[in-house]
Amino acid sequence: MIGTDIEEIRRIERIGRDKPNLLRRLFFPEEWAHALTKPNPWQTLTGIWCAKEAVWKACSNRAKFGVRDVCIRHRPSGRPEVWIAGLDWSEGIEVSISHTAKYAVAVALGLTA
Ligand SMILES: CC(C)(COP(=O)(O)OP(=O)(O)OC[C@H]1O[C@@H](n2cnc3c(N)ncnc32)[C@H](O)[C@@H]1OP(=O)(O)O)[C@@H](O)C(=O)NCCC(=O)NCCS
Repeated sequence: MIGTDIEEIRRIERIGRDKPNLLRRLFFPEEWAHALTKPNPWQTLTGIWCAKEAVWKACSNRAKFGVRDVCIRHRPSGRPEVWIAGLDWSEGIEVSISHTAKYAVAVALGLTA
């Protein structure tokens, strides 16, 4: 299965401004760490959020997890990879992220079985 998601970067920025504690809880520490290495962390966080939702959609036939359980890790090359908290079958799920100044988008490919 495939999944996709698109978000406005300013939406995540607004949550960060109005509800910083909520935003902190939406992302894993390694996701924050990756975003904070970037010139525009909001773009990167929005891309990661899109990736979480895209992965959930791509796995919704077998999803026994929530969007917030999806952790998007970035390899040293910059390539994102998927890890799902509490599950042992996240290997093989693929995700790709892109962003402009206004929007972020992600596409995920789930497991077929
Ligand atoms: C990776 C690349 C395609 C990203 O394209 P872009 O138009 O600059 O940026 P996009 O908004 O479309 O994508 C950015 C996202 O792509 C993902 N990404 C970065 N590197 C990646 C890689 N190697 N493989 C897959 N995805 C990657 C990340 O999730 C990144 O988001 P982040 O910066 O917030 O972490 C671009 O940086 C590129 O062309 N790199 C080529 C590097 C290269 O040629 N190296 C050869 C020399 S060794």
